[in-house]
Amino acid sequence: MQRILIDTDPGVDDAFAILLALRSPELHVEAITTVCGNTPVVQATQNLLTILGVLDLDQFPVIAQGEAQPLVKPLVTAAHVHGEDGLGNTSQLRTANGSLLYPPANTEVSSMAGVDLILEMAARYPDELVIVTLGPLTNIAKAIRKDAPKMRRLRKIVVMGGVFEEYGNVTTTAEFNIFVDPHAADEVFQFGVPVHIAPLDATHQVILTGERLHAEVDKRDSPISRFLKDSTQACMEFYRQHVGFWGLHIHDALPIGMLTYPDYFKSVDAYVQVETEGTLTNGMTVADLRRERQPFNPNAQVCVKVTAEAFLDDFFERLQ
Ligand code: RIB
Ligand code: CA
Repeated sequence: MQRILIDTDPGVDDAFAILLALRSPELHVEAITTVCGNTPVVQATQNLLTILGVLDLDQFPVIAQGEAQPLVKPLVTAAHVHGEDGLGNTSQLRTANGSLLYPPANTEVSSMAGVDLILEMAARYPDELVIVTLGPLTNIAKAIRKDAPKMRRLRKIVVMGGVFEEYGNVTTTAEFNIFVDPHAADEVFQFGVPVHIAPLDATHQVILTGERLHAEVDKRDSPISRFLKDSTQACMEFYRQHVGFWGLHIHDALPIGMLTYPDYFKSVDAYVQVETEGTLTNGMTVADLRRERQPFNPNAQVCVKVTAEAFLDDFFERLQ
């Protein structure tokens, strides 16, 4: 069983990852911290409570709110993809009697800052804790700045972010999580704790069509499946118009999958740097992934191949 802390900016696809993690017996989600990204961090924290409210949990992970601004750049959000509330506008959905269709979980948000909860968990589980990042890396970089020795005891950091041999999804060269806070990403990648990256090169291999999602929802008609259907409506319309298919990439579910069924993921060693000064290339993740150019000083493993259909089948098996 792997002890993990999830750092997230929910986020429609973050919800897929969080639900999968909490339905995976291989993982124990010790804590969840929120970070600015898809939506401002206060809304991200509300969205996390909504996601947890969909599950019938006896016990909840410890929750803390993280950083509201990237290290250097002004915050860029993604309401055009994830909806005004960052969660497919599910916060506005009501039942016939006017109550919230998806009420928040009955659990408290810690008064601790997200960075301090990260450090507390790193100290509580030395050489064991795995951090899974689903948004910009601001919280992680600030935790390293605040107490590097504690953060050096992390087992590894699994990151959804970056793009290497494809185009970016924010600019031609940059993926959203890295673009929002390139300085944080570079500090994390250069820190020395093992980093496993699920870039767009991998997440784009998993295509969840609207037809497949709705078929899976109709098969189960559970609170989770109804929530996944409701929360993805706006996002799938964005994909229809701007990506070329009706559905979505569940980017953030891949780092979780890399922990629960690693055989579905093939990675290569790489030395990854992040462009923090460029104008056209700001937020670009730079690495040479060619086999014959394997670096003498890798700082990351980059996922390049996913057994996509098996991953999706297992995903829906778990989200009963
Ligand atoms: O580029 C995809 C990533 O950016 C995902 O984590 C998505 O939730 C957004 O945060
Ligand atoms: Ca995310």
